[in-house]
Amino acid sequence: MLRIDILTCVPALFAGPFSHSILKRAQEKGLVQIAIHDLRDFTTDRHQQVDDYPFGGGAGMVLKVEPIAAAIRHLQSQRPYDRLIYLTPEGRHLDQHLANELSLCQNLLLLAGHYKGVDQRVRDLFITHEVSIGDYVLSGGELPAMVLVDAVVRLLPGVLGDETSALTDSFQDGLLEPPIYTRPADFEGHRVPDILLSGHFAQIDRWRDEQAYEKTRRLRPDLLADAD
Ligand code: ADE
Repeated sequence: MLRIDILTCVPALFAGPFSHSILKRAQEKGLVQIAIHDLRDFTTDRHQQVDDYPFGGGAGMVLKVEPIAAAIRHLQSQRPYDRLIYLTPEGRHLDQHLANELSLCQNLLLLAGHYKGVDQRVRDLFITHEVSIGDYVLSGGELPAMVLVDAVVRLLPGVLGDETSALTDSFQDGLLEPPIYTRPADFEGHRVPDILLSGHFAQIDRWRDEQAYEKTRRLRPDLLADAD
């Protein structure tokens, strides 16, 4: 079973995405355990201060090292972590390959930064991996942490109803997906391709393969180049 601990100073942000649909069911089925920890619970001062001004001046606040160190040490005393991941735009880009890799882990600890970032000593002393969800700056690491969790949890065996559906996802085989349709077969004169209504499943499979390749060549030729 995969266990994911998330450290944040805005725990309320996680309530929605983890309490519905696939992520909710995966937790209920005991396929993943997700625990959110409030950094403020690991402060020792009266104001429960998790951030402070940067030494040397500059804009923005910096997450302090002590509460994060206390939280990580507390969690590490309960289980060994395969990876301690800090979400930052400076990290390795999240892609399907990394999601697959993380889905094979047993214990992950995610640190969602906020404000201007975290004290460098957190990264030097505790963090083993840094992950970005893309070349743009969000206001905190919470949304990226949720994106990572979603991408990883749906890969766990038993999470998706149809056992094969994660394997047929876009990117899993390095190609985009072929077009899909459902009823009606004719929408205002726009018809579903005849082949899909034909019942010839071998031909349908071949058509889907061709379409997936064609679509990838048109929209994401870089994915085909990567395969070489
Ligand atoms: N924190 C802020 N922006 C981010 C990004 N793009 N990826 C990961 N963490 C972030």
